[in-house]
Amino acid sequence: MNDQVAVNTVDGVTTLRIERPDKQNALTSHMYDVMSDALAFGDSSSRVRCFLIMGMPGVFTAGNDIEDLQSFAENGAIGDSAVHFLKTLAMLEKPIVAAVDGLAVGIGTTLLLHCDYVVASEWATFSAPFVDLGLVPEAGSSLIAPRLMGHQRAFELLVMGEQFDAKRAYQAGFVNKVVAAEDVEPIAMAAAQAIAAKPPEAVRSALKLMRGDRLEVAQRIQKEAATFTELLRSPAARDALQEFIDRPR
Ligand code: COA
Repeated sequence: MNDQVAVNTVDGVTTLRIERPDKQNALTSHMYDVMSDALAFGDSSSRVRCFLIMGMPGVFTAGNDIEDLQSFAENGAIGDSAVHFLKTLAMLEKPIVAAVDGLAVGIGTTLLLHCDYVVASEWATFSAPFVDLGLVPEAGSSLIAPRLMGHQRAFELLVMGEQFDAKRAYQAGFVNKVVAAEDVEPIAMAAAQAIAAKPPEAVRSALKLMRGDRLEVAQRIQKEAATFTELLRSPAARDALQEFIDRPR
């Protein structure tokens, strides 16, 4: 089976490239599992000093696979894969760089709140349309986003469902650098390599001090997942998911 996430380690940098172009890089349970395993393995390996998450030119990811969400709604429970991935991401001890060109929807935006250095193209767009889907934001974003960008801006992103362009994401504080599309990957890779070249214990210790209480974030991820599961059964969510699946193409 094609994993749809290519994992590669070179010179201390483990790259996770999401590649499911026919579905705008939407993430399935299997893809979350591949990413969780790569992150957990890299975090425990002395060969790995930094992670780099990227999509493909033009699309980072369109978020959780909607058909998966619909089957979770029918079964009355979300799978463990996404929650496990998010908790793994939140608890990592090594830095994470992200390279974003084009669309970053749903978890494609909220996972960036766990990254330490985000490079985005001028064409990148960020949105978290959870509420419009009858759901709630995840990935600990209900905790991290208001702290990072202030309640009002987080409300625009997470509740109003407003799409942020790269400049607005930079101003909100979850993008470090906005560059031309063709420069996104080289600049993100150069940043990851620069991090990998630093004394690893010092990097890890600095990060630990900066990130604060990760358990609080993991607990919030769990709490959000419980509310998400509850709302997934609601008519509002079921209708919104069905509407996407039935849309004219
Ligand atoms: N889950 C599953 N499939 C998805 C998807 C998702 N999140 N996002 C896109 N796709 C699929 C489409 O169904 C389509 O598949 P098809 O060709 O077999 O019909 C393919 O990717 C291309 O998508 P399309 O909608 O035609 O592309 P677009 O450029 O017109 O629009 C988006 C792109 C991302 C704006 C639009 O697809 C979208 O809104 N997707 C849903 C995003 C979302 O709500 N994610 C959050 C989930 S919590």
